[in-house]
Amino acid sequence: VLAIWHQLTKTEITELTKGSVMMRERSRVEDTIYAMQKAGPGSLQVISDFDMTLTRFAHKGKRLPTTHNILNNRLLINEDSTKKMKELLNTYYPIEIDPSLSLAEKLPYMVTWWTEVHELLIQQRIRKDMLARVVRESSAMLREGYRVFFDCLAEHRVPLLIFSAGVGDVLEEVIRQNDVFHPNLHIISNYMDFDHTGVLQAFKGQLIHSYNKRDVTLSHATALRELHGRPNVLLLGDSLGDLNMADGVSEAQNILTVGFLNDQVEERKESYINSFDIVLLKDETMDIPNVILRHIV
Ligand code: C5P
Ligand code: MG
Repeated sequence: VLAIWHQLTKTEITELTKGSVMMRERSRVEDTIYAMQKAGPGSLQVISDFDMTLTRFAHKGKRLPTTHNILNNRLLINEDSTKKMKELLNTYYPIEIDPSLSLAEKLPYMVTWWTEVHELLIQQRIRKDMLARVVRESSAMLREGYRVFFDCLAEHRVPLLIFSAGVGDVLEEVIRQNDVFHPNLHIISNYMDFDHTGVLQAFKGQLIHSYNKRDVTLSHATALRELHGRPNVLLLGDSLGDLNMADGVSEAQNILTVGFLNDQVEERKESYINSFDIVLLKDETMDIPNVILRHIV
């Protein structure tokens, strides 16, 4: 009897019992993790959002910047523009996270927000050679435990696709300055287009905002061929729009979604629990993704 009992409880992953971890269906989560473990790291890919998923939302009670907000620095833009960027944030961020608005209602606002900020940055003639400095001077931080996460994936040759509606040049610099820019990294983001003198003149390709990740992933499907043959997906995000990041994965077998709920926790808890397999409430660490990886690789 003891042996059977042991077998039945073997699948319990104790770290998932922490108070900040919420799950709609815990047994499904554990079954998925064990299915991924059986298939091994050769079948796994990780798809992660960047801002407020790989980076911290807050530290010592202070909000930390997204990649766009790292650029809101007087070294790059004038005083009027810093004010304008802050106003746009105060207007549109509440819409982005408002649980009472539908996706369709949010869409046009998101396009306007991103478009206006990108136009402002172009108009301010941002210099490429200043980016490393503004990142260094910013308060942006990767989540606690980030090194274990990035190093573990690289060591086991598990591809990590970072899929960000932020600014690619800035997020690359954050990763580089934290010494975790490993060869298993793939990035889809809004990249800046500089002229031959190193001045920003445009943004490249299709605009990515928080709620069009489905369209974007489908248009990148061929470029992501390297990820074929990896039917198990660990997906990390902080926005409901991030759930679509795996829509381009052909022949997916097991998808486990982890959502960081950083802000408006009470108002959004229910929708997050209904949408992500695991929801982490105000958790500023990579502990849970690292525990999951430890079970799979
Ligand atoms: O990497 P991720 O997809 O999370 O990046 C997008 C995030 O950047 C959005 O969730 C949004 O809140 C934020 N953002 C911002 N300033 C902008 C546009 C987006 O802080 N101008
Ligand atoms: Mg995000």
